[in-house]
Amino acid sequence: MPETLFINARIATMADPSGLGLLDNSGLLVHGDTIAWVGPMADCPDSDDAQIIDCGSRLITPGLIDCHTHLVYGGDRADEFEQRLEGLSYSEIAKRGGGIRSTVAATREASEAELLKQAQPRLQQLLDEGVTTVEIKSGYGLDSQNEIKMLRVARQLEEEYSVRVMKTFLGAHALPEEYTDNAEDYISLVCDEMLPQAHAEGLVDAVDVFIESIAFDLPQAQRVFEVAKSLGLPIKAHVEQLSDIGGAMLASEFDALSVDHIEYLAAEDVCGLADKNTVAVLLPGAFYVLRETQLPPINALRAQAVPIAIASDANPGSSPLHSILLTMNMACTLFSLTPNEALRGVTINAAKALGLESSHGSLETGKQADIVIWNLHKPSLLAYQIGINPCAGVMRAGQWRKPFKVSVV
Ligand code: NIG
Ligand code: FE
Repeated sequence: MPETLFINARIATMADPSGLGLLDNSGLLVHGDTIAWVGPMADCPDSDDAQIIDCGSRLITPGLIDCHTHLVYGGDRADEFEQRLEGLSYSEIAKRGGGIRSTVAATREASEAELLKQAQPRLQQLLDEGVTTVEIKSGYGLDSQNEIKMLRVARQLEEEYSVRVMKTFLGAHALPEEYTDNAEDYISLVCDEMLPQAHAEGLVDAVDVFIESIAFDLPQAQRVFEVAKSLGLPIKAHVEQLSDIGGAMLASEFDALSVDHIEYLAAEDVCGLADKNTVAVLLPGAFYVLRETQLPPINALRAQAVPIAIASDANPGSSPLHSILLTMNMACTLFSLTPNEALRGVTINAAKALGLESSHGSLETGKQADIVIWNLHKPSLLAYQIGINPCAGVMRAGQWRKPFKVSVV
């Protein structure tokens, strides 16, 4: 089996319950698709057949993980961007039939090939910055055929690119026009037909619901979660983005992998997440684009040791953001995360939010060899710089996606 030995590296292993697990003057051996050894250069194993990569003290991190995106969709919503600048709110636009519904119309119209073509540059942008795992949600089809079409595109992206794609079914994202005033029947369609069909095609890794006054209420979400549970699928949820209606508590009662957004989550309710080891996924892109002022309960999350992940939320409405590095910077600037928390948020904690922490998210013996070499020495520079891409090499599952070539330091 091919072996690669990285030598003279500064390795942010992320194998530490709170920090970066930083190892200076260290090395890492990859055997096949797996990490075979990580440790100080003094203990470096002999490996005659390995390809040797001298990292010249550069930083190595795990492949980055964007654990919440909607990057398969038709069209754009630049018109709504202008409407919001003129003073209309995200909720008002949604109530007038725009918002998610307008992307639903464009997505239904697009063929699978067209959706794929539109998604490719969005994904490529993330990959260029060292992303090796990305979650992609459905939710702009809102009927069986079109939700399945979106998830097939997500699967095709995984087949075409060297990236792990986790596919999340978000049929309960918004009420489609044909079910106006008939949410219960739509939820029945989601539960009885859409989700089981998508699952039967092997297209569902997790199930998400948008729980909000402009989307679905608690009893409706509960119906979807019960079906997810009966199919053995893990749960995620968009909650407390615009108001506090108790979505995070419901999701964590169902042992959700993550609750996402949570600006309006009450600090007193954070212990409910801690009890269930649910990850809090913060989405600074949506906070920024919607010019939100309500901050998520960061200090309560820290106090209760709730794992915090961050993600781009790449979508055409609330977060047309396709940069994981800018997401890290925004999480620090807008939410006061430390650069270390931001890096944990796109590695080990993002892996947890996808249920992948036993194989991804840190550089430890036995884990998958998803590795990024950066033209940097200091980890905090990843979150600090804006508009610079220091990614110098990417290995995914033991294979070079972007081979590392020594250049500038
Ligand atoms: O994560 N909150 C709901 N869903 C997306 C936005 C979708 C859209 O506006 O198209 C979000 O912000
Ligand atoms: Fe989202």
